Amino acid sequence: MSVAIDRQALAELRVREEASLAERTPRSAAMRQRALAHLPNAVPMSWMAGLYPTAAIYAASGSGARFRDIDGNEYLDFNVGDLSMCAGFAPPPVVTAVSRQVAAGAHFLLATEDAVFVAEELARRVGLPFWQMTLSASGANTEVLRIARLVTGRERLVVFGGHYHGHLDETLVRLVDGRAEPEGEGLPAHASRHTRVLPFNDLEALEAELASERVALVLTEPALTNCNVVLPEPGFLAGVRVLTERYGALLCLDEAHTFQFAHGGLMRSWNLAADFVVLGKGLGTGISFGLYGMSEPVAKVFSRHLATDGGRPGLATGGTTYASAVALAAARAALEELLRPEDYARIGRLGTRLADGLEGHMRARGLPWRAFRLGPRSGYCLAPTLPRNGAEAALSLDSELIDTRRIYMANRGVWDAVQSAGPQVSLVHDAADVERYLAVAERFFDAVLREGGPE
Ligand SMILES: Cc1ncc(COP(=O)(O)O)c(C=O)c1O
Repeated sequence: MSVAIDRQALAELRVREEASLAERTPRSAAMRQRALAHLPNAVPMSWMAGLYPTAAIYAASGSGARFRDIDGNEYLDFNVGDLSMCAGFAPPPVVTAVSRQVAAGAHFLLATEDAVFVAEELARRVGLPFWQMTLSASGANTEVLRIARLVTGRERLVVFGGHYHGHLDETLVRLVDGRAEPEGEGLPAHASRHTRVLPFNDLEALEAELASERVALVLTEPALTNCNVVLPEPGFLAGVRVLTERYGALLCLDEAHTFQFAHGGLMRSWNLAADFVVLGKGLGTGISFGLYGMSEPVAKVFSRHLATDGGRPGLATGGTTYASAVALAAARAALEELLRPEDYARIGRLGTRLADGLEGHMRARGLPWRAFRLGPRSGYCLAPTLPRNGAEAALSLDSELIDTRRIYMANRGVWDAVQSAGPQVSLVHDAADVERYLAVAERFFDAVLREGGPE
């Protein structure tokens, strides 16, 4: 039996599901009308419209793995704020710590004891000895690139196709006819001048580039997680480390996402070495902060190039509300009370169940597909073999299918992942939540598949 997506059924289903969502969200519709007068696309941040295929809905509150919209609909969230809410909505230790710190002063533009604790704990947990804080992972990557340029005296940046490292001009690039080009509108044409985009899992291509001895930084996630999932092949990450050292480039592992996948991140869990590591998304608490760790030699240069007020310009790092007392209180609470080894082990098992369940649904229907699997993260690989790089992963980005699934699931109380991600088990999901996701996904499969023939 061969099975294919019934595109006609998919299109019809989408129309029906959009109508049903609109029916369930009249208050959001009214709010949208009001918002349009002063918020472009009716939202305060463009992603809140651009990430979702339907008219904006408005959130009211959340608890654990669930949130409610202003119409009172409840959603079991498998995107968890694109991993910024992996500790769940309103986790009590963070609520307590943040409330206490706001009452005691949210920010002083001076360090607090929590900063010392967080750096000590991250050094122990992740493995790099020195730490700085920003407002986001984008900000952390911006600073890492500047430091790498200072340390190496070089300009070039290497990223891998399928990457996303935040809203830095120099990483918002894509390959067009073999050349890096700005990826979005509003970016200067020269932003991509120093960036090289190489295929993941290709050490030969990397060595050819590094041999130019012009590369300051290789910036990569340990596994790509912004084009669904691309796993490193055995030896790839170790090879990247050997090559960066051989040719004098620095290496940054961007764990803005993958820190949520394993205790201490994949750097610790896979025993990786690097000059920098970037963490983000408020360590899953949703409070705005990012962090980066660096090696001792890098930190020595960093310390020597301090910018002084009215003095020498020094290294261009920092920001007024970076490393606030309240952000550090949230980080400490998360590290001390939420992000425990046993929790990651538990969600890793639930992630395996999620991937096994999705693959079971695919197999039962004769679909030659696979489930992505990386600890608590799964997803839909629309091909019989898992991708080796971003170009292969892009074959699974079927917008029509993904968008319709999101709306279908939302109408059944499940908030699915954004297009380039996949469902994520967070620290507050349980086995019943995973079974609920799988049951709704199964019904969706049955609604859009037909027997016979290629598509
Ligand atoms: C790997 C990675 N790095 C950096 C970022 C940027 O994070 P932020 O948007 O919080 O700056 C993201 C965001 O999704 C990411 O996935």
